[in-house]
Amino acid sequence: MDGSGKPVDDREGALVAAYDGPPDYRVVGRHGIFPEMTHDEIERFNFLAHMNRHLAGRVMPAVKAAFEARIAPGRDFKNRHDVRRALVQDPYWQVWSALRRNTMEMRQQAGRWVALRQREELAARAAALTDGDPRLQLDPSLELPRYVAAIDHHCMPGSYHTEYGPGDVANAANYDSGLFATTGGMLGQWSDGGGQAVARWVARNLPDFKPKRILDMGCGLGHNVLPLAQAFPEAEVIGVDVGAPMLRYGLARAKSLGVENVRFVQANVENLPQFADGSFDWVQTTMFLHETSYGSMQRIFNETHRLLAPGGIVLHVEQPQYSPEMPLFEQAMRDWDAFYNAEPFWTKMHEADLNAWIVQAGFAKENLIHGGVTAVVDKSVFPDAADDNGEDYGRKAAWHVVGARKEVA
Ligand SMILES: C[S@@+](CC[C@H](N)C(=O)[O-])C[C@H]1O[C@@H](n2cnc3c(N)ncnc32)[C@H](O)[C@@H]1O
Repeated sequence: MDGSGKPVDDREGALVAAYDGPPDYRVVGRHGIFPEMTHDEIERFNFLAHMNRHLAGRVMPAVKAAFEARIAPGRDFKNRHDVRRALVQDPYWQVWSALRRNTMEMRQQAGRWVALRQREELAARAAALTDGDPRLQLDPSLELPRYVAAIDHHCMPGSYHTEYGPGDVANAANYDSGLFATTGGMLGQWSDGGGQAVARWVARNLPDFKPKRILDMGCGLGHNVLPLAQAFPEAEVIGVDVGAPMLRYGLARAKSLGVENVRFVQANVENLPQFADGSFDWVQTTMFLHETSYGSMQRIFNETHRLLAPGGIVLHVEQPQYSPEMPLFEQAMRDWDAFYNAEPFWTKMHEADLNAWIVQAGFAKENLIHGGVTAVVDKSVFPDAADDNGEDYGRKAAWHVVGARKEVA
């Protein structure tokens, strides 16, 4: 059996035919601020994308088999932490974990080399696209929250905020150029499969919703913001992030892709006094909450409620919460990021009762929203996985949507 559960013939030709790897890195979309790459740099990313796909598709199922055959029998696990403590003793888990950590470290070093060696040219390109543009609002006096400043998220040295010189965008260029390798291409050509999925979810589930003002909290470099701006071209879209390199790169990228209705603002979303009460119709967070902290969550949820106009919606998109229905093995494997990938809040966030926090922020229980989205990927890149027919082909990322509609007075 291969990772997809399909029987595989072990003759060489059949194995090659059965291999379902990621596409070539050259399908990644090039925009006006995308770093230049040499042949060898591209091939390094190709290797990492294939290695990640191999680890997820072939090695991970073997960890599960080892768990079922020689770890679980006779044991009474109370929770995912018990399972993790047992897994870390097993040589198969150890191999998988060590390789996964290493591909992450290698991906960061590969992306950093690309970004740092052309750091000054990238800063100049960003400046040419954004200097004097009021849609970039930076605040050099902003104090970073400790959960941002103290952590090199997913092994990314300097995380999203570090600047290596004036007008720097290097860490954003690293993030953008390597994401395809990390995900094995699962987010599509522009790494925006999540944002496209959210825009499609809103069109299907809230067909009458026509937001005029949209706020994206923790927007990063805007991968998942542009699809919202494109879906609602009449709307004013504002992305907020603490990381200046992400915001500079974000506006430069948006403009070079012809998306004009988006603004990038440097601020801490726990407290946004620059925006008036009730001034947004839609507040969005995408893969953001897990990189905050226990202490900040209620403040963030409170701020979403304050900022929404009556009838407005907030949507949070994250990987699935742990629930009694999710097997403990799966919970323990998903928790890997918290312990080995510099995502310390991952484990607590995924066990938290988000509904309770959202209600505590002022939303009515009956107005809670729950759903699910699957990454929308480009048909030209994944011909048989692009149609969103509700199935998960194992090549598409899937997330939960949790949110609420603000009551109409
Ligand atoms: C995992 S990234 C997600 C980026 C983006 N939402 C996406 O989907 O590509 C998390 C982002 O949140 C930002 N961030 C973390 N805490 C923040 C805060 N309190 N206020 C504003 N931005 C924050 C980080 O700088 C980082 O860019």
